[in-house]
Amino acid sequence: SAHHVTALRGSFFDITAVTDCPETLADNARYLEDGLLVIEQGKIVRLSSWQEGVSRLPPGCELLDYRGKLIVPGFIDCHIHYPQTEMVAAYGEQLLQWLEQYTFPVESQYHCPQHAAAMSDFFLQQLLSNGTTTALVFGTVHPESVEALFSAAEQREMRLIAGKVMMDRNAPAALLETPEQSYQQSRALLQRWHNRGRLGYALTPRFAPTSSPALLEQVQRLREEFPDAWLHTHLSENPQEVAWVKALFPEHASYLDVYHHYQLTGKRSVFAHGLHLEEQEWRCLHHTDSAIAFCPTSNLFLGSGLFNLQRSWQEKVKIGIGTDIGAGTTFNLLQTLGEAYKVSQLQQYRLSACEAFYHASLGGARALDLDHLLGNFTPGKEADFVVLDPAVSPLQQLRMHNSTDIWQQLFVLMTLGDDRNIAQTWVNGKPAWRREEKENAA
Ligand code: GUN
Ligand code: ZN
Repeated sequence: SAHHVTALRGSFFDITAVTDCPETLADNARYLEDGLLVIEQGKIVRLSSWQEGVSRLPPGCELLDYRGKLIVPGFIDCHIHYPQTEMVAAYGEQLLQWLEQYTFPVESQYHCPQHAAAMSDFFLQQLLSNGTTTALVFGTVHPESVEALFSAAEQREMRLIAGKVMMDRNAPAALLETPEQSYQQSRALLQRWHNRGRLGYALTPRFAPTSSPALLEQVQRLREEFPDAWLHTHLSENPQEVAWVKALFPEHASYLDVYHHYQLTGKRSVFAHGLHLEEQEWRCLHHTDSAIAFCPTSNLFLGSGLFNLQRSWQEKVKIGIGTDIGAGTTFNLLQTLGEAYKVSQLQQYRLSACEAFYHASLGGARALDLDHLLGNFTPGKEADFVVLDPAVSPLQQLRMHNSTDIWQQLFVLMTLGDDRNIAQTWVNGKPAWRREEKENAA
């Protein structure tokens, strides 16, 4: 059949509208305990209650019964480094020493296409087995790294944004390039991969300390040539790093002002971290419509600081959630939301389950300027979603037994959940990953 229609019966949760105000999130939340999702050719046709939808199913449509499972939009990881998969859990250092001691040596291996291909496969399997269907991804300085990742993502039909790192100072020679090389290689990759299928290209200067003014000029030149490409970098993660930027760029008013001066702020600009921002930097992020990726496990692991989520709402700055593997310690967005809750607790802000799931889905999509395509079950959007098993361990089963509503269920999932809760991950309307059934399941 040319138009293959699939319908899934189960429980569904999503947030139906973007917002600038956390108080209105719950008003736009949709929970269907017995729901029916219809998909066709990779797109959402409709989500309704089972009662309403069942009579409208076309003859011959495939019906899958996932009663007892909770189906949510695919998770969106707004900041992650695929080459750092192999160095998660590197002991003892904060950002700048951690980069020198662990990160740069590992990234030096990605000139090798075979290594890059093997790690790309491993990385995408990790994303999918954790329910992540879209990510904004750092490669290394080597074009080979990004070539391998895009090829692997294309095979899986994933909506993925990535880019080659651009860097020309303050790192080992093997990882440096000239501004002209950086321009040429980034441009070639962008022309080959940007808007090819579901893929997108992000201009990826590592951060201000590894960028000369001449390199930043080349990034600006590319941004002017390709205004719909993304811009992905780091901002104000660690106090030593912030002081270093001030020393390297004394003529600029702030860390963000370095990027802003080269017109690298804007709608498709995503800045990882933003932990130590000054008043004027918040204002600049807002009026340029730039986004921040909040990476709680990374910020705690490197001892970088606490992201002020409440402030991001007050300043009307868009945010998404990032795992920031390998400074972050998990690929799993449920666990990452649990850590975001704890970071907020330390600042007297209550991160509700509703808000948390928003950031991991529609909010993240908006931060990436993809909310017209992703983030909920609105008809016409792309059919990327996760089938969650709400209780997979004795403790989760005990706790879920005492959870009377969806808010408690979601909060228990983000606090106790992990990859065992990801039963299936669907990408572009097709099952892309499925957890193996336990042999001795009770
Ligand atoms: N700042 C510059 N490079 C990096 C990186 O690889 N990881 C993190 N967490 N911060 C950075
Ligand atoms: Zn990072």
